[in-house]
Amino acid sequence: MKQKISTWLSERYPMDQVKSFAKKQAGKLLPPHTSWWHTFGSLLIFLTLNQIITGILLMVYYRPTPETAFESVKYITTKANFGWFIRGLHAWGANIMIVALIVHMLRTYVMGAYKKPRELTWVLGVLLFGTVLTFGFTGYLLPWNQLSYWATVVGTEITGAIPFLGEGLKILLRGGEAVSGETLSRFYVVHVVVLPWVLVGLVVMHIILLRTQGLSPLEPVGSEPKLDDNNAIRFYPEHLAKESVIFPIFFAIMVAIVLMLPVELGEKADYFSTPEGIKPEWYFLPTYQLLKYFPKLLGIFVSFIPMILLFIWPFIDRSPFRHPKQRPVSITLGIIALVIALFFGMVGYLSENTFTFFGKKVHFDIYGVPRNAIIQSDSEKHGIHDSEKTKEENTEKK
Ligand code: HEM
Repeated sequence: MKQKISTWLSERYPMDQVKSFAKKQAGKLLPPHTSWWHTFGSLLIFLTLNQIITGILLMVYYRPTPETAFESVKYITTKANFGWFIRGLHAWGANIMIVALIVHMLRTYVMGAYKKPRELTWVLGVLLFGTVLTFGFTGYLLPWNQLSYWATVVGTEITGAIPFLGEGLKILLRGGEAVSGETLSRFYVVHVVVLPWVLVGLVVMHIILLRTQGLSPLEPVGSEPKLDDNNAIRFYPEHLAKESVIFPIFFAIMVAIVLMLPVELGEKADYFSTPEGIKPEWYFLPTYQLLKYFPKLLGIFVSFIPMILLFIWPFIDRSPFRHPKQRPVSITLGIIALVIALFFGMVGYLSENTFTFFGKKVHFDIYGVPRNAIIQSDSEKHGIHDSEKTKEENTEKK
């Protein structure tokens, strides 16, 4: 029977070519240092598939208009069969994907895998990173709740400060002067149609480069050893075995998080009431906080620098060495960049929030400076909310 099916297929489809292609790919040799850290790339493919599948399922009930968006997400979360679970997998999956992206970037950075001839693999990676962040930005608005609405107001406002193009870009993004139903349908189309195609296209190009160039060795550029059965491992079965362990582990972690920390919905967007402590998603916090310390235009310039540096890094770091021990300057710079990002992210998280430390209330102002909580209580007594204070402080700054 099996033979019959195989013959039937071979007469109609180039099965031999498919088989020999799969065999060639499975038998690829990988450098001997290939480790668990090298599984994060394929984990990202797995997480991308999770986002696509759960995203399609959410689209069955989601309705992208200001009148229906919030209600449809509420329906998904409270009434649709397993809707809360699918939504949880999608929302948490996005966060976990960004964590996995950062780990993958760090691993390729530390191992000098962006060096010749893999500069374009890195550049495609940075584009992928930007695409995933844009997924996060556009997806955040879709539930149409207070936080998502006002975070989009602030986020799109920032683009308005870009010289010459800014105002036009802001109107293009919003579909008008204000964030409205027009913005929602634009973000929806970009989120469910444009970005998935861009992501899949970039991933395919990234993988083609990887498969043709092979994984980077740790030896310096120009002295790479030729891989053979004595100094390499095979993709199948050795590396694939690691991947088939890491996927279920991550999926189990995701399911556990979805069960323990259900995604909240909050209140429906209200054009006339600005909520307190508007914050973007955690991965935008470092940029969001940085922008507060500079006048708008300078702030945009300063926050663009890390992205540009990341993009052109393989063309700046021209040393042939790949092993981290031989690259003290690159590694130190990488650590400094990471510490700065973590610092501003942390300050961004603390800012405009009140926390209790050892029984004492501490309020952090918009710049993340700790103040006595009494100050906040006083302002509360006078009916001044954080967001209003922020507006006042920003006006004073201008
Ligand atoms: C959705 C996003 C991404 C996917 C699906 C993906 C996928 C992969 C896969 C499967 C590998 C091979 C295995 C491994 O090294 O883990 C890889 C390698 C690589 N990736 Fe990515 N990647 C993504 C994002 C990125 C980003 C953001 C960067 C950096 C900015 C990047 C840079 C690289 C480099 C330089 C290599 C070559 C590693 C080597 O030769 O050792 N990738 N990627």
